[in-house]
Amino acid sequence: MLVLGIETSCDETGVALFDTDHGLLSHALHSQIAMHREYGGVVPELASRDHIRRVVPLLREVLASSKKSLGEIDGIAYTRGPGLAGALLVGASFGASLGFSLGKPVIGVHHLEGHLLSPLLARPSPDFPFVALLVSGGHTQLIRVEGLGRYTLLGETLDDAAGEAFDKTAKLLGLGYPGGAALSRLAEKGDPSRFHLPRPMLKSRDLDFSFSGLKTAALTLVRKQDDDEQTRADIARAFQDAIVEVLVSKSLKAVRKSGLKRLVVAGGVSANSELRNRLTASGIDVYYPDFQYCTDNGAMIALAGAMRFMEGAIPENGFDVRARWDLEFISS
Ligand code: KG4
Ligand code: ZN
Repeated sequence: MLVLGIETSCDETGVALFDTDHGLLSHALHSQIAMHREYGGVVPELASRDHIRRVVPLLREVLASSKKSLGEIDGIAYTRGPGLAGALLVGASFGASLGFSLGKPVIGVHHLEGHLLSPLLARPSPDFPFVALLVSGGHTQLIRVEGLGRYTLLGETLDDAAGEAFDKTAKLLGLGYPGGAALSRLAEKGDPSRFHLPRPMLKSRDLDFSFSGLKTAALTLVRKQDDDEQTRADIARAFQDAIVEVLVSKSLKAVRKSGLKRLVVAGGVSANSELRNRLTASGIDVYYPDFQYCTDNGAMIALAGAMRFMEGAIPENGFDVRARWDLEFISS
């Protein structure tokens, strides 16, 4: 079965073709980061308009690179939510109308389900069940994954998401938006012993997180220190060490508590090399998406859609989007 995946939940337009016999055939992505950068964050209206401009050329691109025609598509999956309502509507209405005109089934998939299945595109890929650490710009969650659509939330952030904390601290350090990857590069030059930032909720018995205090501590530190390059690198290092220690410690605790053997890390922050190094060094059986599929993309939506179709998902007549949508709600 050949499935077209369309992702438009935030500031990336992603389109991909996934074949259930041959795997991912092609994917194409347009990032709006450069467009939003001058505003210091995503401007929803600009995001929606840009998705409209990009989606058709990206579809043409994936068809051409996989040597497929529109008529060969067997099903379409779009991101229904969570995300920006206007941005989601572009992918949803485009996917639904394309499906209608081709006479092919259409389903909406959960963006976070896409993220947490994205390591299945990598080799080796994890078998079910596993614990997933989902760390993106909008979410930080530990989830028990028994199988497709069988998700139990184990813990989550009580305030800022990990990616959001990276982005806000990066902004303080003058690294632009979104600054997670830039902060991580700067941290490589930092001295780990110069500053120490708090590890929020490290010792709490639950599997929840809190990052807003860490961000405030970083702000206080930035204000107190000189603004030279080495100091900024040292602060970046202290921030990254703190957040990574909490993420690693809670993930290992979740694996221990769940009795499961495997950990999957997904979402934009799973691209962080310090996080990957620390988790790998812990000796646990851990899986990540390929770097290109850590942040938002169409491939993970095509994969999630294909798996849903194979499990007999019921196609939709119309379409809808959900700006807010708990992953547990889609558990079967
Ligand atoms: O999954 P994603 O594309 O968006 C959401 O669905 O929210 O994740 C984007 C987030 C941003 O906050 C970005 O700063 C962060 O992932 N990010 C990183 C790295 N690469 C991307 N954070 C830390 N280290 C990185 N290398
Ligand atoms: Zn995402």
